[in-house]
Amino acid sequence: MNKLKILNVVGARPNFMKIAPLYEEMLRYPGIDAKIVHTGQHYDKQMSELFFDNLGLPKPHFYLGVGSGGHGEQTGRVMIEFEKVVLAERPDIVLVVGDVNSTIACSLVAVKLGIKVVHVEAGLRSYDRDMPEEVNRVLTDQISDYLFTTERAAADNLAKEGITGDHVIFAGNVMIDSLLHHREKAASSTVLADLGLEPRGYGLITLHRPSNVDDPEVLGRLLDVLGELSARLPLLFPMHPRTRNKIEEFGLQGKVEAAADLRLMEPLGYLDFMKCTDNALFVLTDSGGVQEETTVLGVPCITTRENTERPITATVGTNVVVGRDTARIREEVVRILDGRGKQGETPELWDGHAAERIVGKLWELEGGSADAGAA
Ligand code: UD1
Ligand code: UDP
Repeated sequence: MNKLKILNVVGARPNFMKIAPLYEEMLRYPGIDAKIVHTGQHYDKQMSELFFDNLGLPKPHFYLGVGSGGHGEQTGRVMIEFEKVVLAERPDIVLVVGDVNSTIACSLVAVKLGIKVVHVEAGLRSYDRDMPEEVNRVLTDQISDYLFTTERAAADNLAKEGITGDHVIFAGNVMIDSLLHHREKAASSTVLADLGLEPRGYGLITLHRPSNVDDPEVLGRLLDVLGELSARLPLLFPMHPRTRNKIEEFGLQGKVEAAADLRLMEPLGYLDFMKCTDNALFVLTDSGGVQEETTVLGVPCITTRENTERPITATVGTNVVVGRDTARIREEVVRILDGRGKQGETPELWDGHAAERIVGKLWELEGGSADAGAA
């Protein structure tokens, strides 16, 4: 019998920790031929290669090297290069995760070639079309054959867009599979000792959304409030390259220098970043994935965005969505410093076994025989 051939797509930082547990699980099936395609949307060592090392992923089987560019340019380049791989490989399934440009680009190529698309982390909605990711999510879901969701609200979102049926499957959260799998290893990272920081003695910051960092006034205001809060406790700020470039372009370095203890640094590897998150007093972020990780680690999360596509992190988890109002950020940090930070619980099925459920279900849906199933 021919093997079930699956191309797994990664492109940007949040994709690596989602594909890692899926790929590992696929390797347990003698009947599955799994490969990894890296589009090269993210390419700096700190945004890409380091994650392959940290997560124990093999080198990608295909590297498309598309790099940065405008939305049309980047999406188009991924499509052109990915189509060549798909035509040569003729997979049965293209599996994509999340909501980045590589996600929609590869889905679109696959569906036009009559190849099944599997979307993992389907159905999340911010209902804010100003976010490029929202457009990527809506379109990817429309053309996917199987949609695996991380929280129950996702199926309701999909139903509003006419997507209902057995091909929408609530499976849990693969990003949390990676988190739980690597937590012990991350605990032995020396990053905090190297920085001279004590557990719960600092706040952790990540910012990269265009709505926060592409406007000089908004970014300037955020740096001001961070500078002010850093007089209360050290703030660690591993910086996304987009943000680093914008601070330079807008000439905002002065605000960082004026801050009491705002520590700008290169983006951290996965294990070091997890160690920093797990031990932070709080995390202030606009990241999607970090809202989920803080919820599972039980660390208060302040999300500086007007909305979240991951509402369960706020209704069940430790997340508080404060918008871009710096007064609200200050208020929330003070609440946490007073010991009144948000407590939460772990959402349903965020249990470290989502990849097992997803690959098992795919195998069953594709008619895989029991004797070539998971070893
Ligand atoms: C992308 C995703 C976003 C995701 C984020 C995760 C889209 C539309 N956006 O945003 O959803 O949350 O990744 O981190 O897909 N750059 C480098 N080195 C790199 C990568 C990027 O210097 O390795 C710089 C370049 O100047 C580039 C800019 O960062 O122009 C933005 O990169 P891009 O991939 O376009 O978008 P992100 O902001 O990273
Ligand atoms: N992350 C990391 N180092 C950092 C910042 C983030 O390893 O310096 C990890 C984080 O733990 C999470 C993922 O990157 O697993 C989130 O990616 P990002 O915030 O870039 O994207 P988003 O989730 O917002 O799309």
